[in-house]
Amino acid sequence: MAPTTTASHYSGTAKTLHWLVVALLIAQFIFAWTMPHIGRNTPVSTLIGLHFSFGVVILAVVVVRLVWRLLNGVPPQEPGVPAWQETLSSIVHWLLYVLLLVIPVLGWINADWRGMPVSLFGLFEMPKLIAPRAAGWQFTGDLHGLLSNYLLLALVGLHVVAALYHHFVRHDGVLKRMLPGH
Ligand code: HEM
Ligand code: HEM
Repeated sequence: MAPTTTASHYSGTAKTLHWLVVALLIAQFIFAWTMPHIGRNTPVSTLIGLHFSFGVVILAVVVVRLVWRLLNGVPPQEPGVPAWQETLSSIVHWLLYVLLLVIPVLGWINADWRGMPVSLFGLFEMPKLIAPRAAGWQFTGDLHGLLSNYLLLALVGLHVVAALYHHFVRHDGVLKRMLPGH
């Protein structure tokens, strides 16, 4: 397969990983918003277990995606895109990557802090990152929810509006280079 950097579109692998993360995140927010509220002594119900498992999978896929990107690069910018838009888009892309690493780790730490087992679909248990009720780590639950519900969704909203703006207003190839078949 040709390296991404020489093509005018993202490679099949980059596209697959992008849309896989989108699909996993849609499922993850459905679990997050429908699972029982997590308080002291809440048991790990099916939905909470799915939230933990999907979160760990998202973390793993994002790590693979980042390694892939660092090794293969990205296609050159579309010609004619103003410099400020290029700068803004790379800031948003990097913030999205950072959030998709930080958010699951915070959730995992918070589950450990609450003494809730984090298992991968009941197949095996993930290692503990911190001890239950470890002093100073209580904030991780609130921060996890705030970053997900507000910052991540706001940035994704901006990202999607930008993609649609390129396609429907500027009529350039920015959206198409992330779509299958191009
Ligand atoms: C990118 C991945 C993830 C996203 C987008 C995400 C999103 C969310 C959201 C939106 C909430 C708040 C639900 C509400 O509004 O009440 C939440 C709560 C929670 N999530 Fe996640 N989550 C992710 C990964 C994980 C992982 C990997 C774990 C654990 C292994 C986890 C554990 C928790 C816990 C314990 C809470 C309850 C926090 C509290 O209220 O104190 N999450 N998650
Ligand atoms: C959960 C939602 C999403 C996340 C977390 C996300 C994340 C990302 C990231 C991190 C990149 C940068 C790829 C790289 O260069 O390494 C990217 C690129 C891209 N995304 Fe998304 N994305 C999401 C949803 C969407 C949606 C719904 C669309 C279409 C409407 C879209 C369209 C694009 C396009 C067109 C690019 C390439 C931009 C360019 O070539 O400069 N994304 N996305």
